Amino acid sequence: MITDLTHEMSMTASRDERARKSFVAQLRGHVLVNMADNMHRHYHDQVAPRYEREHGEAPADGPTVHKLMKEEDYFRFYSSIRYNAQEMVWQSVIPGIERNLKSLADKAKSLSDRDVGGSLTLDPEFEVPKNVTRLDVHLAPGCYHSEFTEGDVATGAIYDQGLNVFAAGMMGEHLCDIGDSFSNYVRLRFKDLNPERMLDMGCTVGHNTLPFAKLFPECEVHAIDVAAPALRYAHARAQALEVPVHFRQMSATKLDYPDNHFDLVYSSMFLHELPLKDIRKALAEAYRVLKPGGILLTMELPPNNQSAPYDSFYLDWDSYYNQEPYYKPFRDQDYPTLIADAGFDGDAYFETVMPSWGHSDEAFFDEVIHADGRFNDKTGRLTDGICWYGFGARK
Ligand SMILES: C[S@@+](CC[C@H](N)C(=O)[O-])C[C@H]1O[C@@H](n2cnc3c(N)ncnc32)[C@H](O)[C@@H]1O
Repeated sequence: MITDLTHEMSMTASRDERARKSFVAQLRGHVLVNMADNMHRHYHDQVAPRYEREHGEAPADGPTVHKLMKEEDYFRFYSSIRYNAQEMVWQSVIPGIERNLKSLADKAKSLSDRDVGGSLTLDPEFEVPKNVTRLDVHLAPGCYHSEFTEGDVATGAIYDQGLNVFAAGMMGEHLCDIGDSFSNYVRLRFKDLNPERMLDMGCTVGHNTLPFAKLFPECEVHAIDVAAPALRYAHARAQALEVPVHFRQMSATKLDYPDNHFDLVYSSMFLHELPLKDIRKALAEAYRVLKPGGILLTMELPPNNQSAPYDSFYLDWDSYYNQEPYYKPFRDQDYPTLIADAGFDGDAYFETVMPSWGHSDEAFFDEVIHADGRFNDKTGRLTDGICWYGFGARK
């Protein structure tokens, strides 16, 4: 059963809506666990051996595996169910949000006036980039930026409520397991950092921004995004949860902050939604605004050059079928090269795999992040034993 979100921007779902959300979450679980396991077995037992007999070698990379799997009924079935389940995630939450469109906008406005210490700065002249306006990213109708009423927060609500269904309880009450994990990583791995000011790029509704502000209460936390309705919602949600964050509408490719300004620049699930030229700009901007000694830390999926061919194929699914066309081109990059091209020293690069903060304890977490472990077949997948992957550099 999917439980309602517990902050003030949440809404009470009807019994039917709750049942629908639970069905979708269970359907997704079935696709991503049972069907995915069966599909892997089918590949391993039949598809790969057949290829090896014909070619005298195993499939060498993800695109080769994808080409083979596209001919398989099992993959076609898996893919169409997964695609439909993704659409159903959004369909399960949109009617309730439509019904409450005006009252959500009003509630956001009144929460904005609370004295929590955060702020919201929108730019009416801002031109939302095409990587957002031209796509319904991960099949979400209206993407992040569309507006339907004055002071609209609908796309933020859709993202928050939709992720609640999507995550099916794996990301914690406030859907912030990634932020909890990465902020604790910073605390335990960079004990000398004591961040005074940090930036989260591409924050959406701030799920993974707030944990930093809570863990480092002395730190001034800034978060940017290009989508006004998501930012309005983010600010209202942060106010409701009484966490001070300064949200601003801005592109990561052109940051309106001075040089050497932040101790930490963070992002999660962000870079892969940018065209490669914008990824390069955003990383160069991150380098520019970091103080010397400051840290860039970004949570993503591991790169294809470190993935087994089947895992590459499996993790690239979103790029082909989930309206995330920049995902594979990003994962095809050599991450240390991207970091060096942004201006960081060659030896400044680091990468990490960490257990989910919500599913481990501090001693285990601490041990793993200091062990320089490589990712495993749970990395980035919403299943039991999930691990998060990240990389970054120190300026
Ligand atoms: C998958 S979401 C990020 C999720 C969020 N970081 C989290 O951890 O919950 C990607 C976000 O990037 C934003 N975005 C896309 N292009 C951007 C850009 N050039 N600068 C800043 N944000 C951008 C989108 O509006 C969207 O909110």
